[in-house]
Amino acid sequence: MENLVNTMTVHSINTDTKAALEEACTVLGRGGLIALPTETVYGLAADATIGEAVARIFETKGRPSFNPLICHVSSLEMAQRHVTFDDTALALAETFWPGPLTLVLPIRPESTIHSLTCAGLDTLAVRMPGGFARDLIARYGQPLAAPSANISGKISATRAAHVVADLGDRVDLILDGGPAAIGLESTIVKTHCRVIELLRPGGLAVEDIEKVTGLSVKRRENASAVIEAPGMLKSHYAPQTPLHINAVAAARNDCVITFAGKRISGEENALLVLDLSETGDLREAAANLFNHLKIADTSGAGRICVAPIPMTGLGEAINDRLARAATPSDETGDATEHD
Ligand code: TXA
Ligand code: MG
Repeated sequence: MENLVNTMTVHSINTDTKAALEEACTVLGRGGLIALPTETVYGLAADATIGEAVARIFETKGRPSFNPLICHVSSLEMAQRHVTFDDTALALAETFWPGPLTLVLPIRPESTIHSLTCAGLDTLAVRMPGGFARDLIARYGQPLAAPSANISGKISATRAAHVVADLGDRVDLILDGGPAAIGLESTIVKTHCRVIELLRPGGLAVEDIEKVTGLSVKRRENASAVIEAPGMLKSHYAPQTPLHINAVAAARNDCVITFAGKRISGEENALLVLDLSETGDLREAAANLFNHLKIADTSGAGRICVAPIPMTGLGEAINDRLARAATPSDETGDATEHD
């Protein structure tokens, strides 16, 4: 492989989509790294079949190599070349792909996905994104391994500017597609014999999965006890500023993050008040979450106080991310296991 000297470029995919697609394919083909927009968050992508390229993802993010990556595909057929679908997984893929759903399925022995992508596990996480990401994978012709395009342990990037700030010239090409529409990572489930297990709540509400399959989704009692989805480890989305969830009061130097115009006591003295969605729309709140956390984290506030967010629909995933952001990394033994 040629020596990759990083001369990072940022391309808007909207001004010249064709040129962006071509350049991205060239970079991927020589084992390079691109940051690309998906409907959930920006991904840091490489060809999932090239071991050295996948290794660069771990190196660039500072991510522990035993943490497996999601493989992004452009079609069900492409996924089926690498994993085996049971009936439940097939129904889910047919209903929700392209979209914010990742399925963890058994790898086929003939799959050409590099073992580093799934960190040596016998299962592979697969997802079909929509829009530009799907067009790129279809054109490139191979699945792309892509975690969120942020430094390990930091908040996921939902805008190209976040990627530039976090990873800058460690990436060969950054594709700017504007703010991510969903703003939360995909929901990850593992299916087996008509059992659906939730590995990570995300951009697709669990209720929607239950409605389509008629099955109730199993939630894990103690997620961090199982390394199967290390992204579930408790301390994961970590702003530098201490963050308090379900806050009922704020002090003078705090930044308040609220929802649906809900007021908390002492808010009038706070440094800054941000609303995830003034109209109480949980989708809008999800899309704003990481950007608001970043604004709060750089506001100079002493604490970030987040008002209670409802647990319905996407509220489950929003509360999950907030609970992880609220745990100081040094409180768990898992401090180095962010992704
Ligand atoms: O929306 C998303 O899912 C974004 C975009 C870029 O697609 N990707 C993303 O990837 O959030 P990442 O790498 O940050 O999170 C992937 C999660 C990790 O928690 C990882 O442990 C879990 O998926 N995972 C990957 N492969 C797995 C497997 N075989 N079994 C269980 N969990 C797996
Ligand atoms: Mg991540």
